[in-house]
Amino acid sequence: MLDATASAPTSTTGSFTIGDKFVSVPVRQGTLGPSVVDIGKLYSQTGVFTYDPGFTSTASCESKITYIDGDNGILLYRGYPIEQLAEKGDFLETCYLLLYGELPTAAQRADFNYRIRRHTMVHEQLARFFQGFRRDAHPMSVLVASVGALSAFYHDATDISEPHQRMLASMRLIAKLPTLAALAYKYAIGQPFIYPKNDLDYASNFLRMCYAVPCEEYEVNPVMARALDQIFILHADHEQNASTSTVRLAGSSGANPFACIAAGVACLWGPAHGGANEAALKMLEEIGTVKNIPKYIARAKDKNDPFRLMGFGHRVYKNYDPRAKIMQKRCHEVLNETGRKDDPLLEVAMELEQIALSDEYFIEKKLYPNIDFYSGITLKAMGFPTSMFTALFAVARTAGWVAQWKEMIEDPSQKIGRPRQLYTGAKQRDYVPIAQR
Ligand code: SDX
Repeated sequence: MLDATASAPTSTTGSFTIGDKFVSVPVRQGTLGPSVVDIGKLYSQTGVFTYDPGFTSTASCESKITYIDGDNGILLYRGYPIEQLAEKGDFLETCYLLLYGELPTAAQRADFNYRIRRHTMVHEQLARFFQGFRRDAHPMSVLVASVGALSAFYHDATDISEPHQRMLASMRLIAKLPTLAALAYKYAIGQPFIYPKNDLDYASNFLRMCYAVPCEEYEVNPVMARALDQIFILHADHEQNASTSTVRLAGSSGANPFACIAAGVACLWGPAHGGANEAALKMLEEIGTVKNIPKYIARAKDKNDPFRLMGFGHRVYKNYDPRAKIMQKRCHEVLNETGRKDDPLLEVAMELEQIALSDEYFIEKKLYPNIDFYSGITLKAMGFPTSMFTALFAVARTAGWVAQWKEMIEDPSQKIGRPRQLYTGAKQRDYVPIAQR
């Protein structure tokens, strides 16, 4: 269980020998979770590197933002359990918490919401940027490009040494990602762009920008808006995942903040990461019916078959992803609200989950459903095309990306990230003239 009375960070020493060298290294214990062996001086002391491709045993930084206990299925944002934030809070309050470290007072919340709403529009010239894309471009390709294009504007928020500008860039990104994602969707379906409305909450504004048309009034469905707001909370941050690490590495060179978040969008797109919700839904559609499940389970277990059950497994959660449990509940609610409670996809998903959770292979490898397993079905029921699922993930994760980017920039020990390698290539050799090759 989580040790809520965990002590303050401490440091001891560890030691080991490499060849004939005795090495003593600091061992640092954080507030919660595993200690770290500080190997910052290992190379200068011993002439050797550590080797950990995929960073399965490597802490890349110190952070106070999000804590995950993968064995006990625990996820905390600034110490608050995700279950409580999802049930009792809202997404903009979560953004404030991630950025400032504390839950806002009523006045701070009102001021933050007001400031975010004043940044939801994008520069009119940026909206013209979309005309250059093919209509069938994947929304994530458009989002990578348009978020990167923000760095061509807003030069009053790119001096990252200036705290006000760091916060302004962070708020602009949180405010504008939904507008850009909605623009990408409207462009793909050939409908006119819908401007944000400042009297709507964050999730309702996004739904209206996606689904309203100029010819009639659009009524936001409160059940959908609440479900979407919760989906945003669940996806807001997740420690040093691949896309967050990408943002931190890009930011460590002092790059333009908008360009750093564009790098995070690019990394999130991968099917092993944020693209898994789209891939999970395509997998469920490919399985089609319950009777086909055993064939796909067998493929997932076959070492010679690259097929994996999308939406299952996680680098950190070796127990149930706490977000998946909340997502499953929300999924049923949305399906009931949309009259799709008998959606065959949900039937396949529920049966697949039951079979996988009782199968020796999945139990031994600790493969549980992750957040992407149910989010795809929920988003499809809300009317989003599969190709928009990862774009919605990017909208939510922008809150975590900017909070982690800001923490990295403000860390006094921060330096440019520059990993080394194990070189197994050719030894030095002389150039061979072409006539002698
Ligand atoms: C997200 O990091 C984060 O926090 C990410 C995220 C976030 O909020 O930012 O939580 C969001 O990305 C969730 C994960 C979404 N991805 C998927 O659902 C894609 C399917 N899952 C896998 O590709 C995989 O589980 C990963 C990528 C999620 C984790 O991979 P790891 O930790 O590198 O584990 P691994 O690939 O080394 O697998 C361990 C074993 C392997 O078998 P062996 O080689 O040991 O025999 O488990 C097997 C794998 O073959 N395995 C699976 C499997 N996932 C792992 N087998 C079948 N189906 C799967 N889904």
